[in-house]
Amino acid sequence: MLMTGRERLAGEIQALAEKYGKQHSALIPIVQEIKQKYRQVDSFAMQIIADQLGIHPVEVYSVVSFYAFLGSQAQGKYIIRLCRTISCDMQGKDRVMRQLENDLGIKFGETTKDGKFSLEWANCMGMCDQGPALLVNEKLHTRVTPEKVHEILEECRRSFGVHATEQKEVHLV
Ligand code: FES
Repeated sequence: MLMTGRERLAGEIQALAEKYGKQHSALIPIVQEIKQKYRQVDSFAMQIIADQLGIHPVEVYSVVSFYAFLGSQAQGKYIIRLCRTISCDMQGKDRVMRQLENDLGIKFGETTKDGKFSLEWANCMGMCDQGPALLVNEKLHTRVTPEKVHEILEECRRSFGVHATEQKEVHLV
């Protein structure tokens, strides 16, 4: 029997929920994968995601709307978005903000002169119980501390080094 588009989509979401674990932290990766494949997450998909994770569809909707906003502004190679909604605010988002601004030498809303990092504010990402939460491009970090900010930035800088080496090797061939 032929599967309808909706059945196929529901099956894919179910497989993703099994892959990422049927818990709240699976929400962002599932939304990302569905968005990447279908270029949108429609109301049917939102309902299925909510059912699979046992959460309210409004929570899925808020993450989907947030992702619709991503990519709408031109920024650096690494776009760091820190959640400023109330739970993350109460869990120390200001300390994380100050550390990011100090380490990068820019304010939120700005991009470093070398075009490598941008700092942006974000709204709730659905990780309120694990705040402060931030995204580096599409990678989510939770329970971020000032110390963790150093590690996150180092990880980004290391990847610049890797890219530089790769480019060098291409020139040598
Ligand atoms: S308040 Fe920051 S993730 Fe929800």
